[in-house]
Amino acid sequence: MAELMKGLKRTHRCAEITAANVGETVTIMGWVQKNRNKGGLVFVDVRDRSGIIQVVFEEGKSEEALLEKAARLRAEYVVAVVGMVEKRSGAVNENLATGEIEIIPQTLRILAESETPPFPVEENSKTKEEIRLKYRYLDLRRPDMQRNLMMRSKAATLIRRFLAAEGFLEIETPVLIGSTPEGARDYLVPSRIHQGHFYALPQSPQLFKQLLMCSGCDRYFQLAKCFRDEDLRADRQPEFTQIDMELSFVDVDDVIDVNERLLKELFAEVLGVDVPLPLPRMTWQEAMDRYGSDKPDIRFGMELTDVTEVVKNSEFAVFKGAIENGGTVRGINAKGQGAMPRKKIDKLVSFAKDYGAKGLAYMAVQEDGTVKSSFAKFMTEEETEKLIEAMGAENGDLLLFAADKNKVVWAVLGALRLELAKQMGLLDKDEYKFLWVTEFPLLEWSEEESRFMAMHHPFTMPMEEDLAYIDSDPGRVRAKAYDIVLNGNEIGGGSVRIFDPDIQNKMFEVLGFTPEQAKEQFGFLLTAFKYGVPPHAGLAYGLDRIIMLMAKADSIRDVIAFPKIKDASDLMTEAPTAVDAKQLEELGLEITPEKE
Ligand code: AMO
Ligand code: AMP
Repeated sequence: MAELMKGLKRTHRCAEITAANVGETVTIMGWVQKNRNKGGLVFVDVRDRSGIIQVVFEEGKSEEALLEKAARLRAEYVVAVVGMVEKRSGAVNENLATGEIEIIPQTLRILAESETPPFPVEENSKTKEEIRLKYRYLDLRRPDMQRNLMMRSKAATLIRRFLAAEGFLEIETPVLIGSTPEGARDYLVPSRIHQGHFYALPQSPQLFKQLLMCSGCDRYFQLAKCFRDEDLRADRQPEFTQIDMELSFVDVDDVIDVNERLLKELFAEVLGVDVPLPLPRMTWQEAMDRYGSDKPDIRFGMELTDVTEVVKNSEFAVFKGAIENGGTVRGINAKGQGAMPRKKIDKLVSFAKDYGAKGLAYMAVQEDGTVKSSFAKFMTEEETEKLIEAMGAENGDLLLFAADKNKVVWAVLGALRLELAKQMGLLDKDEYKFLWVTEFPLLEWSEEESRFMAMHHPFTMPMEEDLAYIDSDPGRVRAKAYDIVLNGNEIGGGSVRIFDPDIQNKMFEVLGFTPEQAKEQFGFLLTAFKYGVPPHAGLAYGLDRIIMLMAKADSIRDVIAFPKIKDASDLMTEAPTAVDAKQLEELGLEITPEKE
């Protein structure tokens, strides 16, 4: 390397060179994008992370040996070129930032050769993701991936600068911690010294950031790696990064204020997008009622309408039964979709069933005002008319109804609304619609465990006015919790914390912890609270999700340098891997063979 680089010093990145540099001698280094040999004339495109510039080797202008060397170049060779910047003699390339200029070389040095890559290193790859991930280092050379990584870096730098200016201290918290099995499943790390004991990797720095408030740090932040062993989706990874923060002596509005200003600055600086403040807020109840989701995409309407009252006396057994069972009937209006073919409607029905619906009732209002419907025959003409009116339907609209327990109806129509918006092309990736969702329920009933679980986490403060119901009707208690939603994605969430030991103990009791269990798992926090705990609150963003939306990527995998696939493995390093017997022995572990 030392020899190869001797006498060479890069002066510019490829795409930093402009017409203003014409007449200057420059030195660039990068990868060969392509090489066109026209006999006596060799065009070589050289690429680095900034972009591409054309180098022209021409008989008469360049030495014979140089031309020969240029002709030998192949894709992904690493080269250094010293040459003069000139205006293009041929046609200007409008598609290239450096399209007006070219380099006439004096020196060409091949720094490394390359085998033929398994896929072309270029924009908008059609290569299968498995191959891209196996050769991730090559995939990351592609311009779209480089842009994503650069955007991520720029965002992280800006976030650090903003929060530091607001008086936040960046403090690292440990990655080997004790297991607290609430929330997702923990990743465990066996201890060699304490055999039979395990560390857990943090699902978030939650407990530590609260302790930092007890320590008087006042304002903390961290770009923290978090680990959750849960089923993966496009917006979930087993390890991901949070922008994590906690503030002392604040209430909900203070957290929201500083975060709104952070988001505004982030989007202005990185995307040039203006985010008008204040951001809209909606209670959880309103979000569920209007959108069937606690993370509504408010880029479009198609809101849910509760038609329980309208249909409750109809003869349609499906509706009647659901209402008698304590459920509701709600619908959405897919504007202008009244002519949707039956086959496509059937697809929507099976889509609804995937979300737990027993069925989906439809009513297509034709252009001539007649209706085609799966259930109109059970309704009087008057009932049908009332229903159409309640749904605000006009000729040509398609109405879809779900009847069930609220939870199912919301899930089904919430998902259907998004699916229809996708089909109808209502989702504009250039539009950024933020929303705070507030006043989440404190607790959520778990059928699986037959007990209440914390909807956010066990340290979230109940709303003062609801505290009275915590024993008699825990499901009714709302929390001082908030999520920040962007275009239907939960990009962050947080809460005001419990800082009163009595309320914290009550919370553990409602969650079914015995005092001993609470002490065993969270004793250090409860003890810390005995020595002067300031009122505090905080929030954490999923950095990967924010960058995914900013970069208009389809998956968080596209904004993470080395992501894992659905089964939580890494296709490049092949992690997780088996370990040798000696390592297991040192840890006092034995692997039981998998059962058939
Ligand atoms: P929460 O569990 O809501 O809150 O997480 C905060 C944010 O992290 C992102 N996120 C994820 N991103 C990628 N992959 C995952 N598997 C994943 N899981 C979560 C989401 C989410 O909004 N300690 C609390 C925050 C607090 O109360 O201050 C917490 O972790 O964007
Ligand atoms: P069934 O009585 O099951 O034949 O259903 C009659 C119609 O009602 C069909 O179009 C079903 O898709 C629809 N349907 C069934 N269950 C529900 C439900 N829970 N909510 C809305 N529509 C339903």
